[in-house]
Formats: sequence, C-alpha cells, structure tokens
Amino acid sequence: MTTYIDHAAPMASTPTTTNPITEGYTRREILTYAWAAAVGLMTLETTFAAFDYLKPRFRAGEFGGKFTLGIASVLPTDDDPPVSQPNGKFWLVNTSEGPKALYMVCTHLGCLYKWDASLGHFKCPCHSSEYSREGHYIYGPTSRSLDQFVVEIVENGKVMATTQQTVTGIMPPHISNPNAEIVVNTGQRLLGQDRALSPMRRA
Ligand code: FES
Repeated sequence: MTTYIDHAAPMASTPTTTNPITEGYTRREILTYAWAAAVGLMTLETTFAAFDYLKPRFRAGEFGGKFTLGIASVLPTDDDPPVSQPNGKFWLVNTSEGPKALYMVCTHLGCLYKWDASLGHFKCPCHSSEYSREGHYIYGPTSRSLDQFVVEIVENGKVMATTQQTVTGIMPPHISNPNAEIVVNTGQRLLGQDRALSPMRRA
C-alpha cells in the first residue's frame, strides 16, 4: 500500500516564547532605562559618600569632638588652678583675657606634663620643660609654648567669639555675656608660639 504525503496540510507550528519583562519594550527603550538606572545609582552613591565625608568624624564629648563646659559664669576664676579635663585631653584655665584649653601633651617629645601647685605652673616629668598657668614657655628643651584647642563662646546657638592665632600668640576669646556657653573644640588645635617669643621665658 502506498502512503502519500499531503503537502497542502498545515505544518505544526513551533510554539514561540515571550519574555514578560521585555514584551512591549523596544531594545532601545530597555537600554535607555538601564542607563538611567545606572546613573541614578551612581548619583545616590556619590551623595552618600559626600554626606559621609561632611558629617563630623567625632561625636560631642569624645576627644576630637566638641566639649560643652556650661555657661561662662561657672568657669574657674582668673586665679584658680587649672582644671583637668582628661576626656578632652586638655587643662581648662581662665585668664583675664578669656578661657584657654591647653592640650595636655608636652610640646617637646609628647609626655604628659603636670600641674605643680608648689611652683604655681606646669612641669613635664620627662625633660623638665616648664610652662606657665596660661601655657607660656618658661624653661626647658621644648621649642614652643603649649598647644591649645579652640574655645568657642556660644550664644543662642551662634558662635560669637573663638580662640585666635595671631602673630603675637594665641588669643583667647572674649566673654561679654556671663550666660554664654563655653565650648572646647578638640578637633582644632593651635600650635604654641615659638619659645623665643614667650613673655614668661626664663633666661
Ligand atoms: S617630653 Fe616634656 S620635656 Fe621632654
């Protein structure tokens, strides 16, 4: 028996698959959307990086950050001995010109100098450098007076005055309002003046 093939019969069609995501979009549109998403992601990353860079590295109350000491009227008097602030690594002293925050580290080779009540000034136990109560160089091998942190006088959230470095030395900020807040910024250190310029230098 002879078998005939009917060429007129329709061929079984191959099932076509469609991608539900790309269906309805041209290749150009998909590339445009992908590019826009990549740019958006890059912008987001840049924004986060900038924010991370700009935000303070140290929190208030830890070394490297700011220390709020209270209002000006609670400061020690001009004659009181310095007050140690070990967390901020500074000695707080008040003077007739304004408050100072003296960095606790000796400007010679980095030892911790001490307040000597019998001498009435600071003395370093390592190589005997001496500094006045206000941080001026008196005597010893170090090359400069004590470094200081910037003190801010703050009123109603506004900084009204700060410690300034001038050609004649470091000038403390003037307090005109006894209710102003005293803030020490341990992130900003000013180098002590050359010992040759110290008004307290002992020959
Ligand atoms: S480290 Fe203070 S005098 Fe040398």
